[in-house]
Amino acid sequence: MFNSQTFTELPCGLNSLTQRLSDDGVVQFYLSMRDQFPDGHMKDLVAQDLDGARHIRIGDRNVVNFGSDSFLGLDQDARVQAAITAGAKKWGTHNGSSRAFYSVQANLDAESRLADWLNVEDVLIFPSVTLANIGLIPAVAGAHDLLIVDRQAHNSIHEGAKIAKADGAVVRKLFPCTAERLSEMLAGQAHSASVVAMDGVYSMSGSSPPLADLDQVARASGGVLYVDDAHGTGIFGPRGNGMAARELGTLDNVLMVGSLSKAFSCMGAFVTCTTELKLLLKMKSSTYIFGGPVPPPYLEAVCVVCDILMSTEYDQIMRRLNRLIRRLVAGLERLNLVVLGRESPIVAVLIRDEELTLRAGKWLFDHGFYVQSVLFPAVGINQGVLRIQVNANHTPEAVDGLLNVLADLSKQINLPHAA
Ligand SMILES: Cc1ncc(COP(=O)(O)O)c(C=O)c1O
Repeated sequence: MFNSQTFTELPCGLNSLTQRLSDDGVVQFYLSMRDQFPDGHMKDLVAQDLDGARHIRIGDRNVVNFGSDSFLGLDQDARVQAAITAGAKKWGTHNGSSRAFYSVQANLDAESRLADWLNVEDVLIFPSVTLANIGLIPAVAGAHDLLIVDRQAHNSIHEGAKIAKADGAVVRKLFPCTAERLSEMLAGQAHSASVVAMDGVYSMSGSSPPLADLDQVARASGGVLYVDDAHGTGIFGPRGNGMAARELGTLDNVLMVGSLSKAFSCMGAFVTCTTELKLLLKMKSSTYIFGGPVPPPYLEAVCVVCDILMSTEYDQIMRRLNRLIRRLVAGLERLNLVVLGRESPIVAVLIRDEELTLRAGKWLFDHGFYVQSVLFPAVGINQGVLRIQVNANHTPEAVDGLLNVLADLSKQINLPHAA
């Protein structure tokens, strides 16, 4: 579809812009993968139907979906669904105003429930983690402040950092993400404040940076950690308070951004803060001021999820989920595959080669299991992974089925093996 001749006769306007975009390096890489491996690329799949046990119908195939972030299975919970329906009756589908003008009571209720659940003074809700990162990072790292960003952090942290840099912050990349390296970077810095931003759980591997060690170094220099805990929310720590809460013991000196869309199965994000800081963040975060809010029906559902997380039922859900994760990881280790991340519901199998990664994902799909074949730029070049997401409403039989098919696959394709 895109080639160098396509637009040469139409040098201006939308066509020339399209040509320029198609020349971009990342686009070229994507197009070359799509064109070389049209069957295996599988980036535009559409589910026509799904059920409560994570089966999805895509075209003429029924497969078990191991590609959902709804880790606790609450997207299928009747109470969460009913809260959204009742919320739509009460508030309508959307209140149609930026919260910079007014909020509905459901915003305040959800923030208060989240703060109680997290045992923090306050939280501020954003429409998504992406928008939280893009709005908050430039707000907390202003002109002349030092902002250190883990090179492996989520794209939206880097996008926020670009805006902070344009506004005058001094931005440095942290790699490797270790306390020693951070300490070196902070030594002798004369900047007014330092914010150190990273993920709580890396989204493509399921592993985590050493938060406690990084926190000690940041604190010692008067700095603060900014942790995007999108994949830790609802999963790690006491009552699912997140990886940062588990590793740091307290959320008192951290800006922790959690997701309301993944384990929560609702929509949105939040940042933990003091009530005083919240007031300031509302005045400084562009995406809060200039964007719309989470629709109120979802905020009603957030309150219901908080109830579930605070109940003994949560322990049962987590026991089920952790059993499934352990079953999967043990099976992958028996197959001697290279497993990244063993604790989180995101379990990645390192394949490396891009073509092999796509072919492996397609093989699994053809044999009844959907997992995500992840390539550059989400991971490095030649660092392709099969990203498996375990959900509490998977069955043990589904996990075993996936392992059996992976065992067959490793007889067909020479996959990398653990040392
Ligand atoms: C670490 C991390 N941050 C942010 C996001 C984006 O979250 P959202 O969809 O709420 O914008 C993701 C998405 O998976 C993520 O993994």
